[in-house]
Amino acid sequence: MTIECPVVTFPEREKSVGWRSLPEKVWPTATFASIHMKKTKDIAILGATGQVGTPLTRSLLREGHRVRALVRSRSERNEKLLAEYEEAGAEIRLCPEMDDVSAMARELEGSETLIASVSATEDVITRLEPIWLQAAMAAGLQRFVPNEFGAHTQNLSYGDGVLFDHKKRLHEKIFESGIGWTFFYNGGIFDYLLPNLRFFEEVTTFGNLDLPIYTHQIEDIGRFAALALTDDRTLNRCVQMDFNHLTQREMLDLVGKFWPEEPLVYKHYSSPYIIKMKSEAGDEVSAKKGAETDQERWGINYVIYVAGKLAAFTDETLRGSELYPDFQCLSPVDALRDPAFFLEAK
Ligand SMILES: NC(=O)c1ccc[n+]([C@@H]2O[C@H](COP(=O)([O-])OP(=O)(O)OC[C@H]3O[C@@H](n4cnc5c(N)ncnc54)[C@H](OP(=O)(O)O)[C@@H]3O)[C@@H](O)[C@H]2O)c1
Repeated sequence: MTIECPVVTFPEREKSVGWRSLPEKVWPTATFASIHMKKTKDIAILGATGQVGTPLTRSLLREGHRVRALVRSRSERNEKLLAEYEEAGAEIRLCPEMDDVSAMARELEGSETLIASVSATEDVITRLEPIWLQAAMAAGLQRFVPNEFGAHTQNLSYGDGVLFDHKKRLHEKIFESGIGWTFFYNGGIFDYLLPNLRFFEEVTTFGNLDLPIYTHQIEDIGRFAALALTDDRTLNRCVQMDFNHLTQREMLDLVGKFWPEEPLVYKHYSSPYIIKMKSEAGDEVSAKKGAETDQERWGINYVIYVAGKLAAFTDETLRGSELYPDFQCLSPVDALRDPAFFLEAK
């Protein structure tokens, strides 16, 4: 089915000064240490070689935790990274049968926490994660960290997006199981949410331009998740990273400020279009990056840019900035002025 995309261009954008109030943060120069990080933890991780899993695994190792990476196979694709982890002290466990509860439980024995940071497909969330949850229970683990790392699923309603519905059903299973849990929410990864040229070749905006967008750089997400997911205070809590937020209108101002001479094409998808696509888009995977189907992706866009539910601060949610007030993140301002980030796709 072809649906006409209502493209709106922004040749003359209204100026807003919102970005001026953003704090200009600097790159951290040293590994973050805290009194809450003293105890070495035994962490098992699934998806250690993925987008989120790579900086998270590196950070866990850097912080001195005992890390066990469970992988389906070693291949040319992941060998270099797995060798790097081994060099840093990680144990690599080969688990070709990731859907076998007993086999997975054997590999998990001795760990305290299982973190899943695996491609978020329907099969992973609905079939495999419940098996990993059962295995974690059988092995006596204390904490299960499901595949989240995005919008605050706990604050969403069923129907907000198909992928989130799958994640919410998994949460129900986790609560029923009685295992300890932590749901980690980082808002959006810079690469997906700062309007940029990396994956879309146009500066793309969506829905309501004035909603706050919580967004962090992937390396910072990995570093922060390594702190939060080994912290006793976050057991049975959601953790919301809240170090950076800005509206899309402020992002557009930053783009105009830093790239005035750059011939950029602007594209905007309206809220009605996003709502229509959320129910009508199909199962193709047409985005340049990402494992989700088109319908799942429009569901994600709806949650972020129409419903304004990317981040949430419910009673059960701990704010990242309160847990670790000294944690330093790369700011959206610094990312957007960096040619290596903004113009990578050109
Ligand atoms: N907030 C955001 O902007 C944002 C953006 C993207 C993703 N996310 C979220 O972040 C989480 C992790 O996503 P990601 O992008 O980091 O994933 P990813 O890069 O696609 O993950 C790849 C990793 O998952 C493993 N894997 C894939 N399928 C598997 C399976 N069936 N069984 C076991 N392992 C499997 C791979 O192992 P092999 O090496 O064996 O292939 C690899 O280690 C997801 O919950 C996703 O929704 C958030």
